[in-house]
Amino acid sequence: MQTKFLLTDSQIPKAWYNVVADMPNPPAPVIHPGTGAPVGPEDLAPLFPMALIEQEVASQRFIPIPEEVLELYALHRPSPLYRAHRLEKSIGTRSKIFYKYEGNNSSGSHKLNTAIPQAFYNMKAGRTRIATETGAGQWGSAMAIAGSFFGLEVKVYMVKVSYGQKPYRRMLMETYGATVVPSPSRDTNTGRAILEQDPDCNGSLGIAISEAVEDAAQRADTSYALGSVLNHVILHQTVIGLEAKEQMAMAGYYPDIVIGCHGGGSNFAGIAFPFYADKAAGKNVRLVAAEPASCPTLTKGVYAFDFGDTAKLTPITKMYTLGHSFMPAGIHAGGLRYHGASPLVSQLVHEGAIEAQAYLQNAVFGSAITFARSEGILPAPESSHAIHAAVIEAKRADEGGVEKTILFNLSGHGFLDLAAYDDYTNGRLVDHEHSEDNIQAVLGNLPKVSL
Ligand SMILES: Cc1ncc(COP(=O)(O)O)c(C=O)c1O
Repeated sequence: MQTKFLLTDSQIPKAWYNVVADMPNPPAPVIHPGTGAPVGPEDLAPLFPMALIEQEVASQRFIPIPEEVLELYALHRPSPLYRAHRLEKSIGTRSKIFYKYEGNNSSGSHKLNTAIPQAFYNMKAGRTRIATETGAGQWGSAMAIAGSFFGLEVKVYMVKVSYGQKPYRRMLMETYGATVVPSPSRDTNTGRAILEQDPDCNGSLGIAISEAVEDAAQRADTSYALGSVLNHVILHQTVIGLEAKEQMAMAGYYPDIVIGCHGGGSNFAGIAFPFYADKAAGKNVRLVAAEPASCPTLTKGVYAFDFGDTAKLTPITKMYTLGHSFMPAGIHAGGLRYHGASPLVSQLVHEGAIEAQAYLQNAVFGSAITFARSEGILPAPESSHAIHAAVIEAKRADEGGVEKTILFNLSGHGFLDLAAYDDYTNGRLVDHEHSEDNIQAVLGNLPKVSL
């Protein structure tokens, strides 16, 4: 009865997998917010180093991982794959459940997989400072750590509701040398304008992104870095699924269902896209993205061109969106409070290759507790959406009298989310389901794009 399936340092993937090579249709163009025309590399150059811009538009199937990045990956990779024997027993399922654990590093999540290459390419391009946003704080922590590896200054705009809920994340980022401000902040025009209208604004990832983009656009020494959504971020995260495929083979199983929680799409795509390669080649595997009912981008959003941020500073991409002015409820899975989604994930959802499900936070925390008490690991509230989806799929299989092999990504740990667990165990966690009317109201603001 083997529980852990482990790879050695030499089995860390040497190349990232680029899903674009296997998609039936090319990605939709990215539109300049000022001109309304497709963006070119020179439009993105003030924000990103050229190596990342090239990855953003790359079409080759595999992109080599630089030696310097592999060396740093070896500090936390390969990550373990577990067979969840005890969870299976606890929920009484006949199905087999596996999970890949990405919380085994100081950032607490998968985000370090892209923070390291982003910091590396910025350092190579001579940039000395990074401006970025963070929701729950895991991405900011990852960027702070990666920045410290390469001697980069890091400024983090942290969504205000999380800044209040998760003070230890701020302290973690500061320990690694980053400067952290609550967003909306007084440091940018965007932040000041929002605070003028609503001094108590909780903030959102959309606002924090606007602040970080504005900061980076004004300084030649500074790049902007995003922890999710963009193609190069998705690319870097595929190390998760590439390793998981090897580990599932070691275990002697191939998954019927691959699940990841979904905020901007990076950990979901990270585990699912390498399996999509098999699906595109005819294999029968379901890919399921699990999102919060309070921010139901994939299940209730529209597939349309929209801005990635609230202040309309970012390029316009075709994606599932709840509208760039959408203000999600202050739920505890802060990393899932984003109005948009990865254009690559969105396109594959739109084309029917990927499924999406939305869950309320009390049900999600219920599954998180079941998982914690059976498997021992305390999951992040975000990752708990994937746990919940796995439990539901296992129960559904039992009801249908079938046995499935289910793989999910445990994208991070919840050691710094204990206030959320405290709210849950003391009955203070409120379920928010976003109404159709609210969604329709903010969708009225979508930019007009004519191609
Ligand atoms: C642990 C964890 N999981 C998931 C997410 C959601 O991001 P993504 O959808 O890009 O994986 C976050 C974002 O902060 C996170 O911290």
